[in-house]
Amino acid sequence: MSSPNAKLNQWVEEIRELCQPEAVEWADGSQEEWDRLTDLMVESGTLKRLNPEKRPNSFLAWSDPKDVARVEDRTFICSNRKVDAGPTNNWVSPNEMRGTLQGLFEGCMHGRTMYVVPFCMGPLGSDMSIIGVEVTDSPYVVVNMKIMTRMGSAVLEELGPDGDFVPCVHSVGMPLSEGQEDVPWPCQENKYIVHFPEDREIWSFGSGYGGNALLGKKCLALRIASVKARDEGWMAEHMLVSGVENPEGEKRYVVGAFPSACGKTNFAMLIPPKNYVEAGWKVTTVGDDIAWLRPGPTGKLHAINPEAGYFGVAPGTSWESNPNAMESMRANSIFTNVALTEDDDVWWEDLTDEPPENLTDWRGNEWTPDSETPAAHPNSRFTAPAAQCPAIDPEWENPEGVPIDAIIFGGRRATTMPLVFQAFNWVHGVFLGANLGSEMTAAAEGAVGKIRHDPFAMLPFCGYNMGDYFAHWLGMRKRIKELPRIFHVNWFRKRNGKFMWPGFSENMRVLHWIFDRVSGRGKGHESKLGWVPHFRELNFEGLDFSFEQWQELMAVEDSEFRQELLSEAELYLQLYDHLPKELIFQRELLAGRI
Ligand code: GTP
Ligand code: SPV
Ligand code: MN
Repeated sequence: MSSPNAKLNQWVEEIRELCQPEAVEWADGSQEEWDRLTDLMVESGTLKRLNPEKRPNSFLAWSDPKDVARVEDRTFICSNRKVDAGPTNNWVSPNEMRGTLQGLFEGCMHGRTMYVVPFCMGPLGSDMSIIGVEVTDSPYVVVNMKIMTRMGSAVLEELGPDGDFVPCVHSVGMPLSEGQEDVPWPCQENKYIVHFPEDREIWSFGSGYGGNALLGKKCLALRIASVKARDEGWMAEHMLVSGVENPEGEKRYVVGAFPSACGKTNFAMLIPPKNYVEAGWKVTTVGDDIAWLRPGPTGKLHAINPEAGYFGVAPGTSWESNPNAMESMRANSIFTNVALTEDDDVWWEDLTDEPPENLTDWRGNEWTPDSETPAAHPNSRFTAPAAQCPAIDPEWENPEGVPIDAIIFGGRRATTMPLVFQAFNWVHGVFLGANLGSEMTAAAEGAVGKIRHDPFAMLPFCGYNMGDYFAHWLGMRKRIKELPRIFHVNWFRKRNGKFMWPGFSENMRVLHWIFDRVSGRGKGHESKLGWVPHFRELNFEGLDFSFEQWQELMAVEDSEFRQELLSEAELYLQLYDHLPKELIFQRELLAGRI
Protein backbone atom coordinates (compact mmCIF):
# COMPACT_ATOMS: atom_id res chain seq x y z
CA MET A 1 0.00 0.00 0.00
CA SER A 2 0.96 3.61 -0.33
CA SER A 3 -0.90 6.92 -0.11
CA PRO A 4 -2.47 9.39 -2.56
CA ASN A 5 0.24 11.85 -1.54
CA ALA A 6 3.33 11.61 -3.78
CA LYS A 7 5.54 13.56 -1.39
CA LEU A 8 4.62 11.22 1.45
CA ASN A 9 5.23 8.11 -0.65
CA GLN A 10 8.63 9.39 -1.71
CA TRP A 11 9.63 10.22 1.86
CA VAL A 12 8.51 6.81 3.15
CA GLU A 13 10.59 5.20 0.42
CA GLU A 14 13.65 7.24 1.48
CA ILE A 15 13.24 6.23 5.11
CA ARG A 16 12.76 2.60 4.12
CA GLU A 17 16.02 2.66 2.18
CA LEU A 18 17.80 4.25 5.12
CA CYS A 19 16.42 2.04 7.91
CA GLN A 20 16.17 -1.21 5.92
CA PRO A 21 13.22 -2.80 7.71
CA GLU A 22 12.05 -6.29 6.88
CA ALA A 23 8.57 -5.04 5.94
CA VAL A 24 6.58 -1.82 5.63
CA GLU A 25 3.03 -1.52 6.92
CA TRP A 26 0.70 1.46 6.67
CA ALA A 27 -1.41 1.90 9.80
CA ASP A 28 -5.12 2.36 9.02
CA GLY A 29 -6.31 2.84 12.60
CA SER A 30 -8.87 0.00 12.37
CA GLN A 31 -10.03 -2.30 15.14
CA GLU A 32 -8.66 -5.23 13.13
CA GLU A 33 -5.22 -3.63 13.17
CA TRP A 34 -5.42 -2.94 16.94
CA ASP A 35 -6.38 -6.58 17.58
CA ARG A 36 -3.64 -7.92 15.35
CA LEU A 37 -0.90 -5.71 16.85
CA THR A 38 -1.94 -6.29 20.46
CA ASP A 39 -2.05 -10.07 19.82
CA LEU A 40 1.39 -9.86 18.27
CA MET A 41 2.75 -8.01 21.30
CA VAL A 42 1.10 -10.37 23.78
CA GLU A 43 2.86 -13.18 21.97
CA SER A 44 6.23 -11.40 21.94
CA GLY A 45 5.96 -10.54 25.65
CA THR A 46 5.78 -6.76 25.16
CA LEU A 47 2.18 -6.68 26.45
CA LYS A 48 0.17 -8.61 28.96
CA ARG A 49 -3.54 -8.88 28.31
CA LEU A 50 -5.43 -7.71 31.41
CA ASN A 51 -8.43 -9.56 32.83
CA PRO A 52 -11.13 -9.03 30.15
CA GLU A 53 -13.83 -8.98 32.81
CA LYS A 54 -12.21 -6.26 34.87
CA ARG A 55 -10.41 -4.32 32.18
CA PRO A 56 -11.74 -5.20 28.69
CA ASN A 57 -9.45 -4.77 25.71
CA SER A 58 -6.66 -3.42 27.91
CA PHE A 59 -2.96 -4.22 28.19
CA LEU A 60 0.05 -3.77 30.43
CA ALA A 61 3.58 -3.03 29.24
CA TRP A 62 6.74 -3.06 31.33
CA SER A 63 9.54 -1.05 29.84
CA ASP A 64 13.25 -1.58 30.12
CA PRO A 65 14.14 -0.09 33.56
CA LYS A 66 16.49 2.30 31.75
CA ASP A 67 13.70 3.69 29.56
CA VAL A 68 11.09 5.15 31.91
CA ALA A 69 10.82 8.90 31.26
CA ARG A 70 11.65 11.76 28.93
CA VAL A 71 15.37 12.34 28.46
CA GLU A 72 15.83 16.11 28.52
CA ASP A 73 19.60 16.02 28.28
CA ARG A 74 19.28 13.95 25.08
CA THR A 75 16.69 16.31 23.53
CA PHE A 76 17.98 18.65 20.83
CA ILE A 77 16.71 21.73 19.00
CA CYS A 78 18.75 21.92 15.80
CA SER A 79 17.97 25.39 14.48
CA ASN A 80 20.31 26.87 11.90
CA ARG A 81 21.61 29.40 14.42
CA LYS A 82 22.43 28.47 18.00
CA VAL A 83 20.86 31.67 19.30
CA ASP A 84 17.46 30.57 17.94
CA ALA A 85 17.47 27.48 20.17
CA GLY A 86 18.57 29.70 23.06
CA PRO A 87 20.42 28.88 26.26
CA THR A 88 17.70 26.62 27.73
CA ASN A 89 17.82 24.07 24.88
CA ASN A 90 20.54 21.66 23.78
CA TRP A 91 21.74 22.73 20.35
CA VAL A 92 23.77 20.95 17.68
CA SER A 93 24.19 22.39 14.17
CA PRO A 94 21.77 20.82 11.68
CA ASN A 95 24.65 19.64 9.46
CA GLU A 96 26.44 17.85 12.24
CA MET A 97 23.21 16.35 13.61
CA ARG A 98 22.09 15.13 10.17
CA GLY A 99 25.41 13.33 9.88
CA THR A 100 24.95 11.72 13.28
CA LEU A 101 21.39 10.66 12.45
CA GLN A 102 22.49 9.17 9.14
CA GLY A 103 24.85 6.89 11.06
CA LEU A 104 22.30 5.99 13.73
CA PHE A 105 19.38 5.24 11.42
CA GLU A 106 21.28 3.35 8.72
CA GLY A 107 19.98 -0.22 8.96
CA CYS A 108 18.44 0.47 12.38
CA MET A 109 15.21 -1.40 11.59
CA HIS A 110 16.80 -4.65 10.41
CA GLY A 111 14.56 -7.59 11.17
CA ARG A 112 11.64 -5.34 12.17
CA THR A 113 8.47 -4.03 10.55
CA MET A 114 8.38 -0.33 9.77
CA TYR A 115 4.94 1.11 10.46
CA VAL A 116 3.80 4.29 8.70
CA VAL A 117 1.41 6.11 11.02
CA PRO A 118 -0.50 9.11 9.61
CA PHE A 119 -1.94 11.20 12.44
CA CYS A 120 -3.72 14.48 12.96
CA MET A 121 -3.15 16.75 15.95
CA GLY A 122 -6.48 18.52 16.47
CA PRO A 123 -9.93 17.61 15.16
CA LEU A 124 -9.95 16.36 11.55
CA GLY A 125 -10.93 19.25 9.32
CA SER A 126 -10.09 22.07 11.74
CA ASP A 127 -8.02 25.00 10.43
CA MET A 128 -6.08 24.75 13.67
CA SER A 129 -5.04 21.10 13.17
CA ILE A 130 -1.67 19.83 11.96
CA ILE A 131 -1.03 16.51 10.20
CA GLY A 132 2.06 14.46 10.92
CA VAL A 133 3.30 11.08 9.77
CA GLU A 134 5.33 8.96 12.20
CA VAL A 135 7.41 6.14 10.83
CA THR A 136 8.24 3.73 13.65
CA ASP A 137 9.56 0.23 14.27
CA SER A 138 7.55 -0.05 17.50
CA PRO A 139 4.07 -1.62 17.42
CA TYR A 140 3.65 -0.31 21.00
CA VAL A 141 3.93 3.20 19.56
CA VAL A 142 1.33 2.42 16.87
CA VAL A 143 -1.34 1.31 19.34
CA ASN A 144 -0.60 4.22 21.68
CA MET A 145 -0.86 6.64 18.75
CA LYS A 146 -4.28 5.18 17.97
CA ILE A 147 -5.45 6.30 21.41
CA MET A 148 -3.54 9.59 21.64
CA THR A 149 -4.26 11.00 18.16
CA ARG A 150 -6.69 10.82 15.26
CA MET A 151 -4.79 8.19 13.33
CA GLY A 152 -5.01 6.10 10.16
CA SER A 153 -6.85 6.13 6.81
CA ALA A 154 -9.08 9.12 7.60
CA VAL A 155 -5.94 11.23 8.03
CA LEU A 156 -4.56 10.17 4.64
CA GLU A 157 -7.86 11.20 3.10
CA GLU A 158 -7.66 14.56 4.85
CA LEU A 159 -4.04 14.96 3.68
CA GLY A 160 -5.07 14.42 0.06
CA PRO A 161 -2.66 14.46 -2.90
CA ASP A 162 -0.90 17.72 -2.04
CA GLY A 163 -1.41 18.25 1.68
CA ASP A 164 1.55 19.00 3.91
CA PHE A 165 2.68 16.93 6.89
CA VAL A 166 5.36 16.98 9.59
CA PRO A 167 7.71 14.04 9.00
CA CYS A 168 8.55 12.14 12.22
CA VAL A 169 11.02 9.26 12.23
CA HIS A 170 11.20 6.96 15.24
CA SER A 171 13.27 3.88 15.95
CA VAL A 172 13.89 1.96 19.14
CA GLY A 173 17.41 1.63 17.80
CA MET A 174 17.82 -2.11 18.15
CA PRO A 175 18.17 -3.84 14.79
CA LEU A 176 17.86 -7.64 14.84
CA SER A 177 20.46 -9.66 13.04
CA GLU A 178 19.60 -12.96 11.38
CA GLY A 179 18.26 -15.35 14.03
CA GLN A 180 18.68 -12.87 16.90
CA GLU A 181 15.87 -13.07 19.43
CA ASP A 182 13.97 -9.91 20.30
CA VAL A 183 13.47 -8.56 23.84
CA PRO A 184 10.08 -7.43 25.25
CA TRP A 185 11.12 -3.75 25.32
CA PRO A 186 13.81 -2.99 22.76
CA CYS A 187 15.65 0.33 23.23
CA GLN A 188 19.14 1.83 23.18
CA GLU A 189 21.43 3.42 25.75
CA ASN A 190 22.37 6.20 23.34
CA LYS A 191 19.17 8.21 22.89
CA TYR A 192 18.47 11.15 20.59
CA ILE A 193 15.26 13.21 20.51
CA VAL A 194 15.91 15.66 17.69
CA HIS A 195 13.94 18.57 16.24
CA PHE A 196 14.68 20.65 13.16
CA PRO A 197 12.43 23.64 13.81
CA GLU A 198 13.01 25.38 10.45
CA ASP A 199 12.42 22.20 8.42
CA ARG A 200 9.64 21.14 10.83
CA GLU A 201 11.07 17.65 11.16
CA ILE A 202 11.46 15.21 14.07
CA TRP A 203 13.87 12.27 14.55
CA SER A 204 13.80 10.08 17.65
CA PHE A 205 16.20 7.22 18.38
CA GLY A 206 16.67 4.74 21.20
CA SER A 207 13.59 5.12 23.41
CA GLY A 208 10.11 3.63 23.28
CA TYR A 209 8.67 5.65 26.18
CA GLY A 210 5.99 8.37 26.19
CA GLY A 211 7.08 11.79 25.08
CA ASN A 212 10.29 10.33 23.60
CA ALA A 213 8.41 8.06 21.20
CA LEU A 214 4.82 9.27 20.71
CA LEU A 215 6.07 12.06 18.48
CA GLY A 216 2.73 13.86 18.02
CA LYS A 217 2.75 14.91 21.66
CA LYS A 218 5.69 16.88 23.05
CA CYS A 219 7.81 16.85 19.87
CA LEU A 220 5.17 18.00 17.38
CA ALA A 221 2.36 19.59 19.41
CA LEU A 222 4.77 21.57 21.61
CA ARG A 223 8.34 21.91 20.30
CA ILE A 224 7.60 22.17 16.56
CA ALA A 225 4.18 23.79 17.05
CA SER A 226 5.58 26.49 19.35
CA VAL A 227 7.87 27.61 16.52
CA LYS A 228 5.05 27.53 13.96
CA ALA A 229 2.83 29.41 16.43
CA ARG A 230 5.43 32.16 16.90
CA ASP A 231 5.72 32.55 13.10
CA GLU A 232 1.93 32.58 12.58
CA GLY A 233 0.72 34.53 15.64
CA TRP A 234 -0.77 31.84 17.87
CA MET A 235 0.37 29.81 20.90
CA ALA A 236 1.20 26.14 21.59
CA GLU A 237 1.21 25.56 25.33
CA HIS A 238 1.68 22.85 27.98
CA MET A 239 -1.83 23.43 29.35
CA LEU A 240 -5.02 21.72 30.42
CA VAL A 241 -8.32 23.12 29.12
CA SER A 242 -11.55 22.84 31.08
CA GLY A 243 -15.05 24.30 31.27
CA VAL A 244 -16.86 25.58 34.37
CA GLU A 245 -20.60 26.11 34.51
CA ASN A 246 -22.40 27.77 37.41
CA PRO A 247 -25.94 26.90 38.62
CA GLU A 248 -27.35 29.71 36.43
CA GLY A 249 -25.95 27.99 33.32
CA GLU A 250 -23.22 30.56 32.69
CA LYS A 251 -20.18 28.83 31.23
CA ARG A 252 -16.51 29.82 31.16
CA TYR A 253 -13.42 28.04 29.93
CA VAL A 254 -9.99 28.17 31.57
CA VAL A 255 -6.52 26.89 30.67
CA GLY A 256 -3.85 25.89 33.19
CA ALA A 257 -0.08 25.57 32.75
CA PHE A 258 1.44 23.34 35.44
CA PRO A 259 4.76 21.49 34.94
CA SER A 260 4.84 17.74 34.30
CA ALA A 261 3.17 15.63 37.02
CA CYS A 262 1.91 18.73 38.87
CA GLY A 263 -1.82 18.14 38.57
CA LYS A 264 -3.07 19.11 35.08
CA THR A 265 -4.97 15.85 34.56
CA ASN A 266 -6.49 16.07 38.03
CA PHE A 267 -7.55 19.70 37.62
CA ALA A 268 -8.88 19.14 34.08
CA MET A 269 -11.16 16.36 35.37
CA LEU A 270 -12.06 17.95 38.70
CA ILE A 271 -15.29 16.80 40.32
CA PRO A 272 -16.61 19.62 42.52
CA PRO A 273 -17.27 18.98 46.24
CA LYS A 274 -20.71 17.67 47.22
CA ASN A 275 -22.26 21.03 48.06
CA TYR A 276 -21.16 22.43 44.68
CA VAL A 277 -22.55 19.46 42.76
CA GLU A 278 -25.84 19.76 44.61
CA ALA A 279 -26.00 23.46 43.84
CA GLY A 280 -25.54 22.67 40.13
CA TRP A 281 -21.88 23.49 39.40
CA LYS A 282 -20.27 21.48 36.59
CA VAL A 283 -16.67 21.08 35.44
CA THR A 284 -15.97 19.57 32.01
CA THR A 285 -12.75 18.43 30.33
CA VAL A 286 -11.46 19.65 26.96
CA GLY A 287 -7.84 18.54 27.38
CA ASP A 288 -5.32 17.60 30.09
CA ASP A 289 -1.87 18.34 28.70
CA ILE A 290 -1.62 20.52 25.58
CA ALA A 291 -3.56 23.54 24.31
CA TRP A 292 -3.27 25.36 21.01
CA LEU A 293 -4.57 28.90 21.40
CA ARG A 294 -5.52 31.37 18.70
CA PRO A 295 -7.52 34.61 18.70
CA GLY A 296 -10.97 33.38 17.70
CA PRO A 297 -14.25 34.61 16.26
CA THR A 298 -15.53 35.87 19.65
CA GLY A 299 -12.52 38.20 20.06
CA LYS A 300 -11.29 35.97 22.87
CA LEU A 301 -8.42 33.53 22.77
CA HIS A 302 -9.76 30.15 21.55
CA ALA A 303 -8.29 26.79 22.58
CA ILE A 304 -8.27 23.34 21.03
CA ASN A 305 -6.85 20.17 22.53
CA PRO A 306 -4.67 18.69 19.78
CA GLU A 307 -4.76 15.25 21.40
CA ALA A 308 -7.40 12.50 21.44
CA GLY A 309 -6.31 10.65 24.56
CA TYR A 310 -4.71 10.95 27.98
CA PHE A 311 -1.20 9.79 28.79
CA GLY A 312 -1.64 10.32 32.50
CA VAL A 313 0.46 9.71 35.60
CA ALA A 314 -0.89 6.55 37.30
CA PRO A 315 0.41 6.79 40.90
CA GLY A 316 -1.88 8.94 43.02
CA THR A 317 -4.84 8.42 40.66
CA SER A 318 -7.76 6.75 42.45
CA TRP A 319 -11.56 6.63 42.71
CA GLU A 320 -11.13 9.19 45.45
CA SER A 321 -8.68 11.60 43.80
CA ASN A 322 -9.84 11.36 40.16
CA PRO A 323 -12.94 9.25 39.39
CA ASN A 324 -13.17 10.68 35.85
CA ALA A 325 -9.69 9.41 35.03
CA MET A 326 -10.59 6.03 36.56
CA GLU A 327 -13.69 5.84 34.33
CA SER A 328 -11.67 6.87 31.28
CA MET A 329 -9.34 3.87 31.71
CA ARG A 330 -12.00 1.24 32.47
CA ALA A 331 -11.44 -0.36 29.05
CA ASN A 332 -9.53 0.02 25.76
CA SER A 333 -6.48 1.33 27.61
CA ILE A 334 -2.77 0.65 27.82
CA PHE A 335 -0.86 0.76 31.10
CA THR A 336 2.89 1.19 31.24
CA ASN A 337 5.12 0.37 34.22
CA VAL A 338 2.34 -0.17 36.77
CA ALA A 339 2.07 -3.30 38.93
CA LEU A 340 0.07 -6.44 38.04
CA THR A 341 -2.41 -7.97 40.51
CA GLU A 342 -3.02 -11.68 41.05
CA ASP A 343 -6.24 -11.47 39.03
CA ASP A 344 -4.55 -9.72 36.09
CA ASP A 345 -5.60 -6.19 36.84
CA VAL A 346 -3.42 -3.15 37.52
CA TRP A 347 -2.31 -1.47 40.74
CA TRP A 348 -0.19 1.53 41.68
CA GLU A 349 0.63 3.52 44.78
CA ASP A 350 -2.45 5.15 46.35
CA LEU A 351 -4.93 3.43 44.02
CA THR A 352 -6.40 1.84 47.16
CA ASP A 353 -5.88 2.70 50.83
CA GLU A 354 -4.55 -0.80 51.51
CA PRO A 355 -2.11 -2.25 48.99
CA PRO A 356 -2.90 -5.81 47.82
CA GLU A 357 -1.05 -8.62 49.58
CA ASN A 358 0.74 -9.91 46.50
CA LEU A 359 1.68 -8.11 43.33
CA THR A 360 4.13 -8.33 40.52
CA ASP A 361 5.92 -4.99 40.42
CA TRP A 362 6.79 -3.03 37.27
CA ARG A 363 10.12 -4.81 37.05
CA GLY A 364 8.41 -8.21 37.04
CA ASN A 365 9.42 -9.07 40.62
CA GLU A 366 7.20 -10.35 43.41
CA TRP A 367 6.03 -7.50 45.62
CA THR A 368 4.36 -7.33 49.03
CA PRO A 369 3.37 -4.31 51.16
CA ASP A 370 6.68 -4.82 53.02
CA SER A 371 8.73 -4.30 49.89
CA GLU A 372 10.99 -1.27 50.00
CA THR A 373 10.61 -0.16 46.40
CA PRO A 374 7.37 1.13 44.85
CA ALA A 375 5.20 -1.41 43.01
CA ALA A 376 4.61 0.99 40.13
CA HIS A 377 7.29 3.28 38.72
CA PRO A 378 6.64 6.91 39.87
CA ASN A 379 6.30 7.92 36.19
CA SER A 380 4.10 4.95 35.26
CA ARG A 381 1.24 5.98 33.00
CA PHE A 382 -2.15 5.04 31.55
CA THR A 383 -3.07 5.69 27.92
CA ALA A 384 -6.85 6.15 27.66
CA PRO A 385 -9.21 7.52 24.98
CA ALA A 386 -10.40 11.08 25.77
CA ALA A 387 -13.93 10.23 24.61
CA GLN A 388 -14.22 7.76 27.51
CA CYS A 389 -14.00 10.56 30.08
CA PRO A 390 -17.50 11.03 31.58
CA ALA A 391 -16.76 14.74 32.02
CA ILE A 392 -15.69 15.30 28.41
CA ASP A 393 -16.91 18.73 27.26
CA PRO A 394 -19.53 18.72 24.47
CA GLU A 395 -17.36 21.25 22.58
CA TRP A 396 -14.08 19.33 22.93
CA GLU A 397 -13.86 18.66 19.21
CA ASN A 398 -15.23 22.01 18.06
CA PRO A 399 -12.92 22.97 15.16
CA GLU A 400 -12.96 26.62 16.27
CA GLY A 401 -11.97 25.74 19.83
CA VAL A 402 -13.49 27.09 23.04
CA PRO A 403 -13.24 30.74 24.23
CA ILE A 404 -10.84 31.20 27.16
CA ASP A 405 -11.47 33.59 30.08
CA ALA A 406 -8.67 32.66 32.47
CA ILE A 407 -5.10 31.43 32.31
CA ILE A 408 -3.86 29.69 35.48
CA PHE A 409 -0.18 29.13 36.25
CA GLY A 410 0.87 26.77 39.01
CA GLY A 411 3.86 24.82 40.25
CA ARG A 412 4.67 22.37 42.99
CA ARG A 413 6.05 24.61 45.72
CA ALA A 414 6.45 23.52 49.35
CA THR A 415 7.15 27.12 50.40
CA THR A 416 6.83 30.76 49.28
CA MET A 417 3.80 30.63 46.98
CA PRO A 418 0.31 31.22 48.45
CA LEU A 419 -2.76 29.26 47.35
CA VAL A 420 -3.94 31.80 44.77
CA PHE A 421 -3.48 35.31 43.47
CA GLN A 422 -4.41 37.19 40.32
CA ALA A 423 -2.04 39.18 38.14
CA PHE A 424 -2.58 42.96 38.00
CA ASN A 425 -2.63 42.85 34.18
CA TRP A 426 -1.39 40.89 31.14
CA VAL A 427 2.24 42.02 31.38
CA HIS A 428 2.35 41.16 35.08
CA GLY A 429 0.73 37.82 34.22
CA VAL A 430 3.42 37.08 31.64
CA PHE A 431 5.97 37.91 34.34
CA LEU A 432 4.31 35.31 36.61
CA GLY A 433 4.39 32.70 33.84
CA ALA A 434 8.03 33.46 33.08
CA ASN A 435 8.96 32.98 36.74
CA LEU A 436 7.06 29.75 37.24
CA GLY A 437 9.06 27.35 39.36
CA SER A 438 8.44 23.82 40.54
CA GLU A 439 9.94 20.86 42.30
CA MET A 440 11.16 18.40 39.69
CA THR A 441 9.07 15.22 39.32
CA ALA A 442 9.67 11.74 37.92
CA ALA A 443 8.25 12.77 34.52
CA ALA A 444 11.81 13.46 33.39
CA GLU A 445 15.08 11.84 34.33
CA GLY A 446 16.97 13.92 36.88
CA ALA A 447 16.98 15.20 40.44
CA VAL A 448 13.44 14.70 41.73
CA GLY A 449 12.37 17.32 44.29
CA LYS A 450 14.88 20.04 43.38
CA ILE A 451 13.26 23.41 42.59
CA ARG A 452 13.89 24.58 39.09
CA HIS A 453 12.54 27.43 37.06
CA ASP A 454 10.15 26.12 34.47
CA PRO A 455 8.81 29.16 32.62
CA PHE A 456 5.19 28.61 31.54
CA ALA A 457 5.80 24.87 32.29
CA MET A 458 7.54 24.94 28.88
CA LEU A 459 11.23 24.65 29.80
CA PRO A 460 11.54 21.16 28.23
CA PHE A 461 9.09 21.92 25.42
CA CYS A 462 9.79 25.37 23.94
CA GLY A 463 11.25 24.88 20.45
CA TYR A 464 13.03 28.24 20.33
CA ASN A 465 14.80 30.91 22.39
CA MET A 466 12.98 31.28 25.71
CA GLY A 467 13.52 35.05 25.71
CA ASP A 468 11.85 35.32 22.30
CA TYR A 469 9.03 33.13 23.64
CA PHE A 470 8.45 35.62 26.49
CA ALA A 471 8.34 38.41 23.90
CA HIS A 472 5.79 36.42 21.88
CA TRP A 473 3.57 36.12 24.97
CA LEU A 474 3.84 39.88 25.56
CA GLY A 475 3.06 40.56 21.89
CA MET A 476 -0.07 38.40 21.93
CA ARG A 477 -1.86 41.12 23.95
CA LYS A 478 -2.10 43.22 20.81
CA ARG A 479 -3.74 40.38 18.86
CA ILE A 480 -6.42 39.42 21.39
CA LYS A 481 -9.43 41.76 21.69
CA GLU A 482 -10.67 40.39 25.00
CA LEU A 483 -7.71 39.23 27.06
CA PRO A 484 -8.06 36.33 29.50
CA ARG A 485 -7.26 37.19 33.14
CA ILE A 486 -4.15 35.53 34.57
CA PHE A 487 -3.89 33.69 37.92
CA HIS A 488 -1.22 31.87 39.93
CA VAL A 489 -2.05 28.88 42.15
CA ASN A 490 -0.12 26.48 44.40
CA TRP A 491 -1.85 23.32 45.71
CA PHE A 492 1.38 22.00 47.22
CA ARG A 493 2.39 24.34 50.06
CA LYS A 494 3.58 22.33 53.06
CA ARG A 495 3.90 22.79 56.79
CA ASN A 496 5.71 20.19 58.90
CA GLY A 497 5.89 17.95 55.86
CA LYS A 498 2.10 17.96 55.27
CA PHE A 499 0.14 19.61 52.48
CA MET A 500 -1.65 22.66 53.91
CA TRP A 501 -4.42 22.58 51.30
CA PRO A 502 -6.59 19.45 50.71
CA GLY A 503 -6.44 19.95 46.91
CA PHE A 504 -8.15 17.78 44.28
CA SER A 505 -11.96 18.39 44.45
CA GLU A 506 -11.44 21.23 46.88
CA ASN A 507 -9.57 23.15 44.19
CA MET A 508 -13.09 23.96 42.98
CA ARG A 509 -13.25 26.65 45.65
CA VAL A 510 -10.34 28.43 44.03
CA LEU A 511 -11.79 27.87 40.57
CA HIS A 512 -15.04 29.40 41.80
CA TRP A 513 -13.21 32.58 42.86
CA ILE A 514 -11.47 32.67 39.46
CA PHE A 515 -14.84 32.18 37.73
CA ASP A 516 -16.31 35.10 39.65
CA ARG A 517 -13.29 37.32 39.02
CA VAL A 518 -13.46 36.82 35.24
CA SER A 519 -17.22 37.41 35.34
CA GLY A 520 -16.62 40.79 37.00
CA ARG A 521 -18.30 39.71 40.23
CA GLY A 522 -15.54 38.30 42.37
CA LYS A 523 -14.22 40.44 45.16
CA GLY A 524 -10.58 40.67 46.13
CA HIS A 525 -8.02 43.08 47.39
CA GLU A 526 -4.62 44.20 46.19
CA SER A 527 -1.57 42.65 47.81
CA LYS A 528 2.16 42.78 47.09
CA LEU A 529 1.82 39.84 44.73
CA GLY A 530 -1.44 40.66 42.98
CA TRP A 531 -5.18 40.46 43.67
CA VAL A 532 -6.08 38.00 46.45
CA PRO A 533 -9.38 36.86 47.96
CA HIS A 534 -10.35 37.52 51.57
CA PHE A 535 -11.09 34.41 53.64
CA ARG A 536 -14.83 35.19 53.51
CA GLU A 537 -14.74 35.55 49.72
CA LEU A 538 -14.01 31.87 49.22
CA ASN A 539 -16.84 29.38 49.67
CA PHE A 540 -15.77 26.93 52.40
CA GLU A 541 -19.17 25.32 52.86
CA GLY A 542 -18.72 21.63 53.66
CA LEU A 543 -14.97 21.98 54.30
CA ASP A 544 -13.43 22.29 57.73
CA PHE A 545 -10.89 25.03 57.08
CA SER A 546 -10.14 27.70 59.68
CA PHE A 547 -9.18 31.35 59.31
CA GLU A 548 -5.81 30.50 60.92
CA GLN A 549 -5.13 27.79 58.32
CA TRP A 550 -6.10 30.25 55.60
CA GLN A 551 -3.72 32.88 56.90
CA GLU A 552 -0.83 30.40 56.88
CA LEU A 553 -1.72 29.19 53.42
CA MET A 554 -1.87 32.73 52.03
CA ALA A 555 1.10 34.14 53.95
CA VAL A 556 3.68 36.03 51.90
CA GLU A 557 7.08 36.05 53.59
CA ASP A 558 9.31 38.84 52.31
CA SER A 559 12.42 36.80 53.12
CA GLU A 560 11.19 33.89 50.96
CA PHE A 561 10.43 36.27 48.10
CA ARG A 562 13.88 37.84 48.36
CA GLN A 563 15.25 34.32 47.91
CA GLU A 564 12.85 33.86 44.99
CA LEU A 565 14.12 37.03 43.29
CA LEU A 566 17.70 35.85 43.70
CA SER A 567 17.02 32.46 42.17
CA GLU A 568 15.12 34.06 39.28
CA ALA A 569 18.20 36.16 38.59
CA GLU A 570 19.90 33.05 37.23
CA LEU A 571 17.34 32.66 34.45
CA TYR A 572 17.38 36.38 33.70
CA LEU A 573 21.17 36.37 33.36
CA GLN A 574 21.05 33.33 31.11
CA LEU A 575 18.55 35.02 28.79
CA TYR A 576 19.96 38.55 29.19
CA ASP A 577 20.29 39.44 25.51
CA HIS A 578 16.80 38.20 24.61
CA LEU A 579 14.90 39.23 27.70
CA PRO A 580 12.03 41.70 27.07
CA LYS A 581 12.57 44.82 29.16
CA GLU A 582 8.96 44.70 30.38
CA LEU A 583 9.93 41.68 32.48
CA ILE A 584 13.01 43.37 33.95
CA PHE A 585 10.76 46.28 34.89
CA GLN A 586 8.19 43.93 36.48
CA ARG A 587 10.97 42.35 38.50
CA GLU A 588 12.02 45.76 39.82
CA LEU A 589 8.44 46.59 40.75
CA LEU A 590 8.15 43.34 42.70
CA ALA A 591 11.47 43.97 44.44
CA GLY A 592 10.13 47.38 45.42
CA ARG A 593 6.91 45.92 46.82
CA ILE A 594 8.67 43.40 49.04
P1 GTP B 1 1.96 15.44 32.90
O1 GTP B 1 1.07 14.43 32.28
O2 GTP B 1 3.31 14.88 33.28
O3 GTP B 1 2.12 16.69 32.12
O4 GTP B 1 1.36 15.79 34.36
P2 GTP B 1 0.01 16.43 34.93
O5 GTP B 1 0.26 17.87 35.21
O6 GTP B 1 -1.18 16.08 34.12
O7 GTP B 1 -0.04 15.70 36.35
P3 GTP B 1 -1.21 14.84 37.06
O8 GTP B 1 -2.53 15.53 37.05
O9 GTP B 1 -1.18 13.48 36.50
O10 GTP B 1 -0.67 14.86 38.58
C1 GTP B 1 0.28 14.01 39.06
C2 GTP B 1 0.43 14.03 40.57
O11 GTP B 1 -0.07 15.21 41.19
C3 GTP B 1 -0.32 12.86 41.21
O12 GTP B 1 0.56 12.22 42.09
C4 GTP B 1 -1.45 13.52 41.97
O13 GTP B 1 -1.81 12.79 43.10
C5 GTP B 1 -0.87 14.88 42.31
N1 GTP B 1 -1.93 15.93 42.48
C6 GTP B 1 -2.80 16.34 41.55
N2 GTP B 1 -3.63 17.30 42.03
C7 GTP B 1 -3.25 17.52 43.32
C8 GTP B 1 -3.71 18.40 44.36
O14 GTP B 1 -4.64 19.19 44.19
N3 GTP B 1 -3.05 18.33 45.55
C9 GTP B 1 -2.02 17.47 45.76
N4 GTP B 1 -1.42 17.48 46.94
N5 GTP B 1 -1.56 16.62 44.81
C10 GTP B 1 -2.17 16.64 43.61
C1 SPV C 1 5.06 15.32 30.56
O1 SPV C 1 6.16 14.89 30.96
O2 SPV C 1 4.75 16.54 30.65
C2 SPV C 1 4.07 14.38 29.99
C3 SPV C 1 4.45 12.97 29.81
O3 SPV C 1 2.97 14.81 29.66
S1 SPV C 1 5.37 12.65 28.36
O4 SPV C 1 4.41 12.50 27.26
O5 SPV C 1 6.12 11.43 28.54
O6 SPV C 1 6.23 13.75 28.08
MN1 MN D 1 2.75 17.02 30.08
